[in-house]
Amino acid sequence: MFSHLVVRRDGPVEYVTLNRPEVRNAFNEVLIADLTNWAATVRDDPTVRVVVLSGAGKSFCAGADINWMAKTIEFSEEENIQDASAASQMFGAINTLPVPVIGRVQGAALGGGVGLTAVCDIVIAEHDAVFGFTEVKLGILPAVISPFVLDKIGRSAARELFLTGARFSARRAQEIGLVHALVAETELDATVHKYVDECLTGGREAMAAAKTLIARVWGQPFDTAAPITAAALAKRRVSSEGQEGLRAFLEKRKPAWSRS
Ligand code: COA
Repeated sequence: MFSHLVVRRDGPVEYVTLNRPEVRNAFNEVLIADLTNWAATVRDDPTVRVVVLSGAGKSFCAGADINWMAKTIEFSEEENIQDASAASQMFGAINTLPVPVIGRVQGAALGGGVGLTAVCDIVIAEHDAVFGFTEVKLGILPAVISPFVLDKIGRSAARELFLTGARFSARRAQEIGLVHALVAETELDATVHKYVDECLTGGREAMAAAKTLIARVWGQPFDTAAPITAAALAKRRVSSEGQEGLRAFLEKRKPAWSRS
């Protein structure tokens, strides 16, 4: 179904793996289209409750495929806008998935590869992973990923790292909010599964509502945020999922969703 993705389901968990290991999973137009189409299938599938996003082989993702980018030199400005917009739509589609997206990072995450980590909700990286916004070194810039990256790392780190293009450690990535857990490479899968299991204890609709709430409340003044938060909580309380969660707690049993 997809040329550059391997997709596997294990019950409610969807595993999606970028599969161009020979070029360190660099993005070309096919991988971008695959990821966009895959995100649409997950959005419409109520049986998926968690996604694990990873890269095959030695590295998570080396950013844009430099051979593909070379072709864009011949493009008109309008064609380049269309091409960049497709990448932008792909990041947006993953960013707004209604389920937790867990990123598993080994080797390198560079350029758009860091962008991919920024649209994950939870990122687990191996200690030796390397990150970097290397675009300026190629005379371009980290443009389409910037809304998602700035949301995670803020302006100060972006001003340093976008301008220098320097590679930085997984520890630094954790300090600036891109990474949530740092582990030995041998511990990556076990740590991913720990987070998967934790997410499976949450209500699917509640987690989706939490993602929407974060996006809507972030950066808003209290007066704007307050009615949004009250309405979001009220909606959950009267929902069948919210009522099942409270009833299960009072009856000292697991809620229906965590028994499946
Ligand atoms: N686009 C196209 N090909 C790429 C690539 C990219 N972004 N990144 C790596 N490759 C290719 C290499 O050219 C090499 O191809 P070859 O086997 O035909 O020579 C192959 O992938 C393996 O790369 P190599 O550098 O030998 O692997 P590594 O595991 O030692 O290092 C990286 C991996 C990602 C650290 C390193 O390849 C790198 O720094 N790549 C450039 C990343 C970059 O600048 N991205 C642009 C972001 S805008």
